[in-house]
Amino acid sequence: MLRINKVHRMDALVGLSKLPDASVDLVITDPPYNIARPGRSTMKGGKIVSTMSAWGSWDCFQPFDYDLFISKVISECYRVLKSGGALYMFTAREDNGFFIRKAIERGFTYRNQLAIIKKSPQPSFSKANWRSAFELCFYVTKGKAKTFNFLSQPECVNIYPCGTRHKSTKHPTEKPFEMIRRMVGVSSNPGDLVLDPFMGSGTTAAAAKASGRSFLGFELKSEYHQMAYSRLRAIRSVRDKPRSDSTS
Ligand SMILES: C[S@@+](CC[C@H](N)C(=O)[O-])C[C@H]1O[C@@H](n2cnc3c(N)ncnc32)[C@H](O)[C@@H]1O
Repeated sequence: MLRINKVHRMDALVGLSKLPDASVDLVITDPPYNIARPGRSTMKGGKIVSTMSAWGSWDCFQPFDYDLFISKVISECYRVLKSGGALYMFTAREDNGFFIRKAIERGFTYRNQLAIIKKSPQPSFSKANWRSAFELCFYVTKGKAKTFNFLSQPECVNIYPCGTRHKSTKHPTEKPFEMIRRMVGVSSNPGDLVLDPFMGSGTTAAAAKASGRSFLGFELKSEYHQMAYSRLRAIRSVRDKPRSDSTS
């Protein structure tokens, strides 16, 4: 049995296979998008760089391997989630519909999509296509949602406007902490177990810890695993804080 409140340096499918059925309350994950390619360029920090160096070789799969890989991840997420648990999965725009259909085939109920709206998207250097200014995340549940803590009208709208200053680590694809914290707050309760099989810099774990949830996750690359470890050490859980806000 894997220790909870820990990011394990482990392959996601190996780690998932070690988890019992119906043991997790919420999955939030941001797997590789499979958009890095040798010879393909992107803009980073105002410079043209290769996608392999911007993201990393972990983001580059053979065509059919990727579909199979994500299909297995979705199946495993379904197995380990408790009835009524939620899965949030970020995807490349090109694959979003395909993976939603995969999730529905596996038994999930489609609930919604969330979008990160980038306030300062990368400039286009080829000027041959529309600039990309949003990222998608689908939201599905295992049957009827067991938890949906509606926070407020502005916090529960399905777009999240994001500037360039949201990052707290050097991970190339770090997700906005406040957005992930919102998902944790809406789709889980204090003490619940939140899983992220692709932790990267540990944003999901940090949001879960800050919100008084337990967490568990996997990350293959030692550099990112170390980032997540350092980040988690610096985060205090609401469970650790003195209850000075008590009015009774
Ligand atoms: C898109 S990033 C996640 C970023 C994360 N959401 C954050 O906010 O930092 C995906 C991560 O999955 C890791 N990864 C790729 N393949 C993996 C695998 N098979 N098992 C575990 N981790 C993997 C990569 O090293 C990368 O850090």
